[in-house]
Amino acid sequence: MLKDGTFTGKTAFITGGGTGLGKGMATTLSRLGAQVVITSRKLDVLKGTAEEIEKATGNKVLAVAADVRNPDAVKAAVDECVEHFGLPNIVINNAAGNFISPTERLTSNGWKAVTDIVLNGTAFVSLELGRRMIEANQGGVFLAITTIYAMSGSGFVTPSAAAKAGVEALAKSLASEWGRYGIRYNCIQPGPIRTKGAFSRLDPTGQWSEKMLDVLPTGRLGEVQELANLVAYMVSDYSSWMTGEVVKLDGGEYYSRAGSFNELRDVTKEQWDMLAQMIKSTKGS
Ligand code: HXC
Ligand code: NAP
Repeated sequence: MLKDGTFTGKTAFITGGGTGLGKGMATTLSRLGAQVVITSRKLDVLKGTAEEIEKATGNKVLAVAADVRNPDAVKAAVDECVEHFGLPNIVINNAAGNFISPTERLTSNGWKAVTDIVLNGTAFVSLELGRRMIEANQGGVFLAITTIYAMSGSGFVTPSAAAKAGVEALAKSLASEWGRYGIRYNCIQPGPIRTKGAFSRLDPTGQWSEKMLDVLPTGRLGEVQELANLVAYMVSDYSSWMTGEVVKLDGGEYYSRAGSFNELRDVTKEQWDMLAQMIKSTKGS
């Protein structure tokens, strides 16, 4: 979609960049010329992904292990990025933890496992990199991957919903506060896109994604590349006036679930003829 070389001379720092959606974003930015740092807990996974992307794009990808829940580990990962590529211009907070569970079954550790990764992890990465960008008078663009239930809330994934809502508040706050330093901060809310990490924890039986096909007006799940295309635009200079924004990329899921009469899509043509007759016959009453 974007011109070749859109990100030449730029460095992108992507949390959770070794798998799933993060891997797709890393590949796309690398293909468009960026030097990419991917970071998460599992160094072997990161190294495999880095090698694969470098082979496909010819651009450097650095794998750095860090648990985003640990501010010291985040600092060390940023130090390594700076040593190899300099301060990043693009930061994508994509790492997350999640699993379905009735909320009353969660222990405090279960709650913390998710909220620490999603909210505190995003905060630690944003603070470490934002502070350095401000000191270096460099500017930059942040993006956080949230999801549509950050707006609606959702039972059975309560820690994730609460933390993602927090991430959106953090993004909007920093967009306002750090704009004067040339920093933008936006969010994308993806709908369902099949990845091993997400679907093994949210849809272990496959029933949820099956039902989802009836809800989505587009009739299918999203694809990793579709998200990566939007990400590339939102971290590029083509979107240089966009900040504090939250963009849905959900195949229509949110509004499809919200509209009171949307389930009428199952009504047949014959049933509509009958309903029209019934409605017309009540005219004037
Ligand atoms: C209840 C659970 C549980 C489950 C873990 N716990 N799984 N409780 N039901 N299914 C509890 C444990 O018992 C423990 O509490 C606490 O959580 C921490 O568990 P650990 O396994 O020690 O945690 P950790 O190794 O840090 O792993 C974190 C994790 C794990 C979040 C639990 O799933 C993970 O590593 N996830 C990373 C990747 C991921 O989740 N990707 C999907 C993102 S998808 P106790 O009290 O027993 O010590 C996503 C999509 C959103 O966000 C939108 C979709 C449309
Ligand atoms: P995924 O492959 O499981 O991605 C999550 C990534 O986060 C993994 O690479 C994981 O790597 C990393 N991570 C987890 N805990 C970490 C920690 N403590 N420190 C550092 N990294 C950590 O799942 P995904 O589907 O691609 O999800 C990516 C993002 O998209 C998440 O923010 C998710 O909420 C969001 N999202 C996904 C969907 C979907 O349908 N797939 C929909 C909406 C939103 P390690 O295990 O190596 O740490």
